Amino acid sequence: MNFYKCMDSGSKYCPCNLAYTMDCISCSHLRGEDFCDCIWNGVCILYEKYMKNEEDINQRKDYKGKIIEKISLDRNLYLLKIKLDKSFIRDLDIIGSYIFIRKNNTNSHYDTPMSVFNLDEDHIYIVYQEIGPKTKNFNKGDKLIIKGPYWSGIIGDGDLSKQENSSILIVARGIGQSSILIPINKLLNKGNDIVLFLDKGKFNSLYSIDYMDTEKIRIIPIDLFNYEDELMLRKYIKENSVDVIFSAGSDMVHRKIKSIIEKSTKSIKWFVSNNSVICCGEGICGACIRKTKDKDKIKLCKTMINPINIY
Ligand code: FES
Repeated sequence: MNFYKCMDSGSKYCPCNLAYTMDCISCSHLRGEDFCDCIWNGVCILYEKYMKNEEDINQRKDYKGKIIEKISLDRNLYLLKIKLDKSFIRDLDIIGSYIFIRKNNTNSHYDTPMSVFNLDEDHIYIVYQEIGPKTKNFNKGDKLIIKGPYWSGIIGDGDLSKQENSSILIVARGIGQSSILIPINKLLNKGNDIVLFLDKGKFNSLYSIDYMDTEKIRIIPIDLFNYEDELMLRKYIKENSVDVIFSAGSDMVHRKIKSIIEKSTKSIKWFVSNNSVICCGEGICGACIRKTKDKDKIKLCKTMINPINIY
């Protein structure tokens, strides 16, 4: 098994229950090996585990929220404005953050993971599709139970939030728009130059544009699965400086971008929206397990990995 970095390592949620069941993502000792092969250069997870008791594990909490506004963006596509605890919002102000959300009068079977689209001091904003029992019937005034913070909504080749003064290309399609706004705002603050190729996908809405500072980024409409448009994207990558590509959309979008990156022969860091089936978000249930090219089975709710290894 290769070394993998856990999204939670070094955070207040590490060590987690996986350290006590010998299933730690990052520490080989805490997976039952008798050697250390980690390249993690933060606080030693094994040491932290010895210094703490299992009862001291910081579990993610349930917070109370309330829907202040529900806006229809397209057929079955909605934006929720949710009032929430300020300190929780600060923990969510991170690239790739997501939450589990359910109505107050339902049990945890209804927990559904959703990306944080946007936030301000008192609210978070979620864009979601109303497609099943977990997502139907959210209405203005509803009280919510929201669990978090979770941070692995975007996975990639390194830490996207550390990218500075680079040329960044974002390709977002359909509901993938829901995970680009916080990254755009954070990356602009770090002096990055951003070009956004935006594809409506199956919706009739480029809703994300209404929430971004269009003076600061160049937006190019695209239909990614149209041959001419794909050529336009390839040409852009060939003729311009591109250090990083972030693809936000379905696995089909990610595979398309992977083939474009590989054919470009440029050295480009790649990040993707995490499309795994997320059930517990804690590395426990196994719903998000994917096989890497090296045949390692990894849990994508916690493991940070270069998407080249899984697409
Ligand atoms: S979602 Fe449960 S292990 Fe990843």
